[in-house]
Amino acid sequence: MSKLLVLRMLKKSACLQNSTSNRYILGTFQRALCSSNSKPKICIVGSGPAGFYTAQSLIKGHKDLTIDMLERLPVPFGLVRYGVAPDHPEVKNVINQFSTLAEGGRLHFHGNVNVGKDVTVEELRQMYDVVVLSYGAEADKELGIPGEHLDGVLSARAFVGWYNGLPEDRQLNPSLDCDTAVIIGQGNVALDVARMLLTPIDILKKTDITQYSLERIAESKIKHVYLIGRRGPLQIACTIKELREMVKLPECNAILHQKDFEHIKDMVADLPRAKKRLTQLMVDTAFTPMDDKTGSCKNWRMEFLRSPTEVLPTQDGKKVAGIRLEMNKLEGKIGQEYAVATGNFEDIPCGLVLRSIGYKSTCIDKTVPFDTKKGIVINDKGRVTNIKGMYCSGWVKRGPQGVILSSLNDAMETSKVILEDIRNEVFKPCQRSEKQSTRHFLQERGVQCISFNDWKKIDDLEMERGNAVGKPREKIASIQEMLGVVK
Ligand SMILES: Cc1cc2nc3c(=O)[nH]c(=O)nc-3n(C[C@H](O)[C@H](O)[C@H](O)COP(=O)(O)OP(=O)(O)OC[C@H]3O[C@@H](n4cnc5c(N)ncnc54)[C@H](O)[C@@H]3O)c2cc1C
Ligand SMILES: NC(=O)c1ccc[n+]([C@@H]2O[C@H](COP(=O)([O-])OP(=O)(O)OC[C@H]3O[C@@H](n4cnc5c(N)ncnc54)[C@H](OP(=O)(O)O)[C@@H]3O)[C@@H](O)[C@H]2O)c1
Repeated sequence: MSKLLVLRMLKKSACLQNSTSNRYILGTFQRALCSSNSKPKICIVGSGPAGFYTAQSLIKGHKDLTIDMLERLPVPFGLVRYGVAPDHPEVKNVINQFSTLAEGGRLHFHGNVNVGKDVTVEELRQMYDVVVLSYGAEADKELGIPGEHLDGVLSARAFVGWYNGLPEDRQLNPSLDCDTAVIIGQGNVALDVARMLLTPIDILKKTDITQYSLERIAESKIKHVYLIGRRGPLQIACTIKELREMVKLPECNAILHQKDFEHIKDMVADLPRAKKRLTQLMVDTAFTPMDDKTGSCKNWRMEFLRSPTEVLPTQDGKKVAGIRLEMNKLEGKIGQEYAVATGNFEDIPCGLVLRSIGYKSTCIDKTVPFDTKKGIVINDKGRVTNIKGMYCSGWVKRGPQGVILSSLNDAMETSKVILEDIRNEVFKPCQRSEKQSTRHFLQERGVQCISFNDWKKIDDLEMERGNAVGKPREKIASIQEMLGVVK
C-alpha cells in the first residue's frame, strides 16, 4: 500500500473518531512520511549567491535532501550576472562553482518562476518540508527630496540593470548628453557607476556590457562626475580595490580636495588596517599633482559632508538642471558619526543625477513576516519568526550589505539551523506525494519553467554572439527572446 494511501486512511479515521490521540497519531505519521521519509524536500527562492551557497551547505550537510531552486528570471545567478560590473569578469568566476552544483543532480533550477505571483509562499509550504527565501533586494532607497522624479534623475540600481542587460531596465534609455553627472552616495555601487561613465570605450567594448549601452556610452558627453557623501572621508563606504581603480582610470583625473584631508593625514597611521589603506590612498591622491592641469580630459571628484536637499529643474520644470546640497558637520561617537545639517547650501549644475544610496528588499508575499523599515524578512539566525519550516538567507535576511563572500558565511548560518531543525523534526511537514513535481504544478498554471539545461542553451547563444564581436558574451536582455531560445 502506498504511503499516501495510508495517510489518507489515517486522516479519514482521525476525522471520524475525532479523538485527540488519533490526531496525534496522524500528525506523527505525517511527519514521518515527509521528513524522515527521509528525503527532505527543500525549496530555495532566488538563485543569487545566497541561494546557491545555502544549497551548497545543505547538500554538504545532508546526504539525502533534494532542492528545487525557483528564480523569477529565466536565467540564474542574481546580482552576479546583473549587478557585478562588466569590467570585473574575475568576480563572475563564482558562476562555475554554482553551475557545478546545479549539474550535480540534487539541485534543480526552475527559472521564470515569480514567487508571490506564479505560486504563493503558502503553496510552497504545502509542497516542501523547508522553504528558504533568498530573493535579494530588488528595489532601492529614495532620497525623498523635491525634484527626485524629474527627467534625468535615475536610480543607480536601474542604471546598473541597464548596462548589465536586466530585462526590466532594458528600456531605461538614459540621456548622457550633458557634461556633468552627480552621483549621490560613495559606496561601491556609486563607484561602479562612475567607472562605467568614465572608462574609455575601447576598454568597455571588450567586456560583457550590453551592446545598446556600449553604443549610448560611446556617444556620452559626460566629462565630470561628482560623488557626493553626506559624511566625511573617514566614513566613506567604498573599498580600496574599487577606489584604486578610479584613481587609475586612464584619461581621467581624480580630484580630491586637500582641505578635506588636512586634519586627517596625521591620523592615518592609527587607523584600523583596511581604513588605513583606503584613507592613505585618498590622502596620496589629494596631495599628488594631477596629470592634466588643463582640465581637457575627463575627471571625477569626491565632495564630502553634503546632503542633497533638492533636485533643481530646468526653466520648463521638466528636466534636471542641477542639485542643491546642504553642508553637514559630524556629530556622535567615533565610529558612529552622523551628519548634522549646518544651514549652508551650494548648488552644482548638472544634467544627470544618479541616486546610489543603497538597495532595498520588498515583501513578495503577505504571509511572510516582513520588517518594512529595515527591508528584511523578520528572522533569527535565518529562522523566519513564527513560521516553522521557513528560513531566509542573503540580502533579504540581513539587508543589502556585503559582497558575494559575505553570503557564504550567512548561508552557512542559515543552513546550520535548517539541518538542526530537520534533525529535530521541528517544522511543519510537507503534504505532497513523491509524484507531484513543481514543474508539473507550474506548467498547469501556464508557467514556462526554465531548467538549468535550458539556461545552458541561452548561455551558449550569448557566448556565441559575444564571440562574434570580441566580447565574452552578448547578453539577451528580453525575457521573450530567452524563452524563445529554449522552446
Ligand atoms: C551593482 C552591484 C555590484 C556588485 N558587485 C560586486 C562585486 O564586484 N563583488 C562582490 O563580491 N559583490 C558585489 N556585489 C554584492 C553582491 O552582488 C551581493 O552581496 C549578492 O549578490 C547578494 O546575494 P543575494 O543572493 O542575497 O541576492 P541577489 O544576488 O540579488 O539574488 C536574488 C535572486 O532572487 C531572485 N528573485 C527576486 N525576487 C524573486 C521572486 N519573487 N521569486 C523568485 N526569485 C526572485 C532575483 O531575480 C535574484 O536572482 C554587488 C552588488 C551590486 C548591487
Ligand atoms: N566591487 C564590489 O565588491 C562591490 C560593488 C558594488 C557593491 N558591492 C557591495 O554591495 C553592497 C551595497 O553597495 P551600495 O553602494 O549600494 O551601498 P552602501 O555601501 O551602503 O553605500 C551607500 C552610500 O549611500 C549613502 N547614503 C545612504 N543613505 C543616504 C541618504 N539618505 N542621503 C545621502 N547619502 C546616503 C551612504 O552614506 P552613509 O555611509 O553615510 O550611510 C553610502 O555612502 C555593499 O556592501 C558593497 O560593498 C560591492
